[in-house]
Amino acid sequence: PPLEKFVDPLPVPPTAVADTSAYPGADYYDITMRQGSWCFHRDLGPATVWGYWAANPHDRHQPIGMGYLGPTLDVTVDHPTVVKWRNELPTEHLFPAVIDAIRSGNPQLTPTPPPPYQPVQPFPADVDVWNVVHQHGGYTPPQSDGMPKQSYSPRGVHAESYSTLDPEHAAPNEAIYAYTNHDDSCLLWYHDHAMGMTSVNVYAGLAGLYVVRDPADERLGLPQGEFEVPLVIQDRTFRDDGTLAYTMMDRQGEDTPVVNGKAYPFLAVEPRRYRLRVLNASNERFWRLQFVTPDDVLPQPTLPFWLIGTDGGFRKPLQMLNFLISPAERYDLLVDFSAMPMGTKIQLTNYNAPVHFPGGDGPEIGEVMEFQVTKPLSGADRSTPPDKLRLPDVVPPVEVTPQTRRRQWVVYQHQLFHTMTFNAVPFEEPSQDFVENGASEVWEYVNPNHDAHPMHVHLINFQVLNRQPIDATAYQAQYEKWIDGGRRPQDLPVLENYLTGPPYPPDPDEADSNKDTVRAYPEQVTRIVIPDFTPPTQPIASIPGSGAELPATYVHHCHILEHEDDDLMRPWTIVQPNG
Ligand code: C2O
Ligand code: CU
Repeated sequence: PPLEKFVDPLPVPPTAVADTSAYPGADYYDITMRQGSWCFHRDLGPATVWGYWAANPHDRHQPIGMGYLGPTLDVTVDHPTVVKWRNELPTEHLFPAVIDAIRSGNPQLTPTPPPPYQPVQPFPADVDVWNVVHQHGGYTPPQSDGMPKQSYSPRGVHAESYSTLDPEHAAPNEAIYAYTNHDDSCLLWYHDHAMGMTSVNVYAGLAGLYVVRDPADERLGLPQGEFEVPLVIQDRTFRDDGTLAYTMMDRQGEDTPVVNGKAYPFLAVEPRRYRLRVLNASNERFWRLQFVTPDDVLPQPTLPFWLIGTDGGFRKPLQMLNFLISPAERYDLLVDFSAMPMGTKIQLTNYNAPVHFPGGDGPEIGEVMEFQVTKPLSGADRSTPPDKLRLPDVVPPVEVTPQTRRRQWVVYQHQLFHTMTFNAVPFEEPSQDFVENGASEVWEYVNPNHDAHPMHVHLINFQVLNRQPIDATAYQAQYEKWIDGGRRPQDLPVLENYLTGPPYPPDPDEADSNKDTVRAYPEQVTRIVIPDFTPPTQPIASIPGSGAELPATYVHHCHILEHEDDDLMRPWTIVQPNG
């Protein structure tokens, strides 16, 4: 039977408590990845899940977590964080069939690719579980970035680039990472980034929130405390007994929306303004979200809201009726329930986005959650009305000149075995892209596919420059000719010859914003401008070896997790100018 909707209250992940003495000048957290159990819905039995648990400095017997997902790290701008990430997951995977497929060099059960597309096995054959944690969107040195080849197993087997700070204090199944928090106030998140199996590890529950706050924000008059609510939106499929089914690649079960770990939850609210901090932590699902009101409450069917921030922090407030959010993007919203009569129910629904955007016809998921105006006002709403908000200015658009270096990334889907790569180069190939320290560059994501891909670049924030339509069929055909002909430079399609219209500006919700993930729409080139490729070289909290050294290699990838695993990800390297 279909699950009853809006019967479980929305959980809010608990906030981890920092130990301020372990690393002077930094907040320290001791966080363990562990298998546990979690109920996704009142009428579902407990599911075996993976999650993060933070040690509680005030009570060793009460670690902080939920079982599913992880505790929220709430940190201060420029005050660094040190985290020990301990891997105590079982040595057998929650989704063993997927591991068998990875072992066979065929993660997504497509025809087995020949070399060089065959994924390299990062671990010996008796290791079935490995993990690594990436702080998504942060300004982090490579040795703490948690990239795929830094993975390590519960028994302490290491992939080739495993690294830890302060090695005397790290057991083989642990990695100590340090984060600069040299970010604007924003919502980041942390999640598993394991080599070749990020998709199943995140699906099992390995994701959590990382809030960077600037004490100066207090003056802005934003809703805070219980009136600031994070929404981690995902989709999951359940077996009849309530356990998780991983059916991403062959959808059979009912796709169910899950917010902060609960299917179709409700949140009881007061008639006042709320700040909702939305993260799409789905593996591959896009959502176009709106707030639907009952017929008689408003003249229009949906409640307008204000967008006040995105991935990298605040932006100029923008009134909207709905927004498209791809995997890994964050939207910071102000929603005003103050005009709603007591008892009003407002549903957050997916207006029209299918799992793969823009895909076929419409959403497989409609309702997501419900806000119920049932709590009496606990005190006057003193938050600033959205049209009066004065938010910190977003940096002005970066100047792009004809001299600005351009770099092109073509999404290439192999016809036969469906793996995807950038520029038809597998992830395994060493970095071929060298960016000068301090440079700005324009990156062009050329997407001749029929689906959108959310592109994420580690380390930096960028701005969306523009998009331009291309003749995708002709481009793809010439690209294949280039590959089949042995990749002679003269066969490589020249993008300029395939453009079918003028460039058009970023969507209103991504304009004038600092982003770390951008939707590369189908049959378009999406251009971003990266203002400054400078990694953090200073040691963090005086920990030796914690600053970046040049050359510094990072990755960028599609944030559809199945695509990043197989194989739409490439390293790139910051080098000394002329070096
Ligand atoms: Cu959200 Cu490379 O990741
Ligand atoms: Cu993709």
